[in-house]
Amino acid sequence: MAKNVALVTGGMGGLGTAICKSLAADGWKVVANCLPDFPPAAEWLAKTKADGYDFFMAEADVTDFDQCAAMVKKIEAEIGQIDVLINNAGITRDAMFRKMGKDQWDAVMSTNLDSVFNVTHPILPLMAERGFGRVINISSVNGVKGQFGQANYSAAKAGILGITKALAQEVAKKGVTVNAIAPGYVGTEMVMAIKEEVRDAIVATVPVGRFGKPEEIGDLCAYLASDKAGYITGATININGGLHMG
Ligand code: CAA
Repeated sequence: MAKNVALVTGGMGGLGTAICKSLAADGWKVVANCLPDFPPAAEWLAKTKADGYDFFMAEADVTDFDQCAAMVKKIEAEIGQIDVLINNAGITRDAMFRKMGKDQWDAVMSTNLDSVFNVTHPILPLMAERGFGRVINISSVNGVKGQFGQANYSAAKAGILGITKALAQEVAKKGVTVNAIAPGYVGTEMVMAIKEEVRDAIVATVPVGRFGKPEEIGDLCAYLASDKAGYITGATININGGLHMG
């Protein structure tokens, strides 16, 4: 099957970049979403170009419904039809619940969960109408098991599992699959921002004894996006080095 556009939200971040590269290696035309006027965008495009990738970029704040609809319209008109959507954009605002401000709750819920509604809403009907689509939502081991200091993040990432299963049922007969990936601790900036002593304590609990590599998540996305994965839908795929065995 001809490979059209794969859109990766938060495509210029640690996981996002690896996901973009794995999808490109599989022949998809990759569009990396980022915030409007995102300062590192030009450098990211230049760096990935130098590494041999021809990525497109699409600006939209994923917390803004109208911006997401406009972004989808523009990609479909100017780059091509979106067959793959990776809802990857996400942030952390970790704090113990008693110290967590409403601003920290709202920021994580809107970026990590509302975003899935905002970006998927304009794309899913197009996929269903065309009879093919792959929606891959990046959840987290901490959405599956809950995490001390992450009431906001755990709630949003667990919410992603719910929307994944609901949407999978709605579009299963239309050739569209909807799945969630629940990565464990992957060596990106987000994880490296955890205090060193806390990080060391976490890695000590991972049975394989190391953090994950971003490309391990990217390659799983590429597999789920492929024709080979047509019978997987509504699933949560754990990829966490054994940290939590579902
Ligand atoms: N379970 C039980 N108790 C814990 C704990 C845990 N996991 N972590 C810390 N505590 C305890 C501490 O031992 C400490 O106890 P005492 O007061 O008795 O010494 C108490 O809770 C307070 O801990 P801190 O000193 O760390 O408190 P803090 O306010 O300075 O920091 C925190 C709180 C920001 C939540 C910090 O503990 C932290 O960063 N934790 C890690 C959270 C985490 O795992 N985030 C994942 C980010 S990466 C990501 O999200 C990607 C992904 O998908 C996996």
